[in-house]
Amino acid sequence: MRQNLKKVAQIKVDESKKLFPYVLGWKSSCGNCAKRSKPKLIYLLIFSLISSCFVFAPQLLYFPYPSALFLIDSSIKEIDNRVSESNIESPKTSQNDESISCDRTGYRTDICFMKGDIRTHSPSSIFLYTSNDLTDHVLQETIKPYTRKWETSIMDTIGELKLMEKDAKLSGDKHKCQVIHEVPAVIFSTGGYTGNLYHEFNDGLIPLYITSKRFNKKVVFVIADYHRWWEMKYGDVLSQLSDYPLIDFNKDKRAHCFKEAIVGLRIHGDLTVDPSQMQDGNTTINEFRNVLDRAYRPRINRLDRQEEQRFHARVAKRRKAQRPKLALFSRTGSRGITNEALMVKMAQRIGFEVEVLRPDRTTELAKIYRVVNSSNVMVGVHGAAMTHFLFMKPGGVFIQIIPLGTDWASETYYGEPAKKLGLDYIGYKILARESSLYEKYDKNDRILRDPNSITRKGWQFTKGIYLNDQKVRLDLHRFKKVLVDVYAKSIS
Ligand SMILES: *[C@@H]1O[C@H](CO)[C@@H](O)[C@H](O)[C@H]1NC(C)=O
Ligand SMILES: *[C@@H]1O[C@H](CO)[C@@H](O)[C@H](O)[C@H]1NC(C)=O
Repeated sequence: MRQNLKKVAQIKVDESKKLFPYVLGWKSSCGNCAKRSKPKLIYLLIFSLISSCFVFAPQLLYFPYPSALFLIDSSIKEIDNRVSESNIESPKTSQNDESISCDRTGYRTDICFMKGDIRTHSPSSIFLYTSNDLTDHVLQETIKPYTRKWETSIMDTIGELKLMEKDAKLSGDKHKCQVIHEVPAVIFSTGGYTGNLYHEFNDGLIPLYITSKRFNKKVVFVIADYHRWWEMKYGDVLSQLSDYPLIDFNKDKRAHCFKEAIVGLRIHGDLTVDPSQMQDGNTTINEFRNVLDRAYRPRINRLDRQEEQRFHARVAKRRKAQRPKLALFSRTGSRGITNEALMVKMAQRIGFEVEVLRPDRTTELAKIYRVVNSSNVMVGVHGAAMTHFLFMKPGGVFIQIIPLGTDWASETYYGEPAKKLGLDYIGYKILARESSLYEKYDKNDRILRDPNSITRKGWQFTKGIYLNDQKVRLDLHRFKKVLVDVYAKSIS
C-alpha cells in the first residue's frame, strides 16, 4: 500500500500532458495498433490550440488531486471502452498472418500482440521470424509489461522487452526452436511493487486473469522479473489460469516458440473487472473470486479433514453453534487499533464469533481465505490487508476503518471495488478524537480539522503524517452502533 498514494502526486505532474488527447476525445480507433502511426498535422494544430488555452488559464492545470484523477480516470474509461477488444486483437495482418502491434492508448498499461513465428530470446527480446526480406533485424516495438505505466519511478525498475522482426531465410537457423508450444504465451513482469498484497492482486493477478481468460487455461505464462516465492504463494491460483508450467523468462535461455503472444497485461481499474471490456461482455470480478474459491478448495478440504480428525467432537459442536462470524485484520504499529482487545470483547458480547487475523508475508493465503470466506463481516483499518475483501462472499459486510487523511485512498482502492464485488461496504471514518494525532496536535490544527487541505499538498504529507504515524483509538460507543446494526442484519 505504501506507494499507492504516490501516484496521486505523480499523476499531476506526469499526466497533465496526457490529458490533452483525452480532453479532446482523441479517437484513436486503434491508431496505435498500426505499426508506426505518424502524428497528423491536424492533431498538432489542435494540440497547440489547447496548449495555448492552458497558458492563458494555467489554473486548469493545477487540479486538486482527487478531481484531477477522476477526470483522468473517467476519460480513460471512455477511451478504453471505445477501443473494443476485438478491434485490437485481430489487427490487420500481413499476408502470412505475421504481425506485431501495440495498443498504447491505455492510461495504466501498454499491451502488444504478436502473431507468426515467435521465438523468445532471453533475457530481453522476443523475435518474430518473417518471410519479408530484411537485411537486418528490425526493432518494431519496446514494452515494459507492467500495469503502472503512469508511475515513472516504478516503471524505471521494470526491464524493457524488445520485439524484433527478423528475416527467417537469413537468420532463422541461428536461433532454432528448443521448446515448441502449441498454445499462446502471455508475457508479463512480476517486478515493481510485487511483494505488497494489494499490488500483487491489483497489478498482477487480476490483470493476468483479464488478459488470459479468453484462452481457457490453454496458455503459457512467460514471466519477467520472476520470483520463486511468488510462484509458491500463488501456485494454486495460477493453476486455475493456466494448464502449463511457468517460464522464468530471464533465466530460461532456451528459445521458446509460439504462434501467438500477448506482451503486457490489460487492467480495468482498482481491484476490479469491467464486464463491458471483457471479450464475452459478461465476466465480472465475481468470476475472478470464483477462481480463487476453486483454487483454494483442495487445500481447505485437506485442512478441514485434518481438523475433524484431531478435534472430532469440538469442531462439530462449534459448527452447530453458527454465530455470525467477524474476521478482524489486526495491525501493529501505525494504523493499529490501540483498544483492539476491548473492541473484540465488545463484538463478542454483541454476539459475534470473532477471529483475529495477523497475516504476514508467509501466511498461507488458503488459510486466510478459509476464515474470510466463512465470515459474515470483515473489519480492518485501511491498508494493504484490506485487499482480502476479495475473499469475502458477496453479500457479506466489509467495515473499513478510515484514519484521518486517508479518505480518498480508502474509497478508491477498497471501498468502491468492494461494492462492485457485491459487498455491503461500510466506511467508518474516525473522528479527530479517535486518532492518535489528537494528542499530538492542537485541536485547531488543520491536520485535525481539515486533512484534505494537507493531503492535497502531496503524497509525502499523506504518508508522513497520516499513514506512517497514526494509530486509532476507537470510540467504542460509536463503533458499537455500527456493529449492532450489522449483527441485526447478519441474523435476519
Ligand atoms: C456470457 O456470455 C456468453 C456468450 O458471450 C454466454 O455463453 C454465457 O452464458 C454468458 N454468461 C452469463 C453468466 O451470462
Ligand atoms: C466458501 O463458502 C461457500 C459458502 O459457505 C462454500 O460453498 C465454499 O465451498 C467455500 N469455499 C471454500 C474454498 O471453502
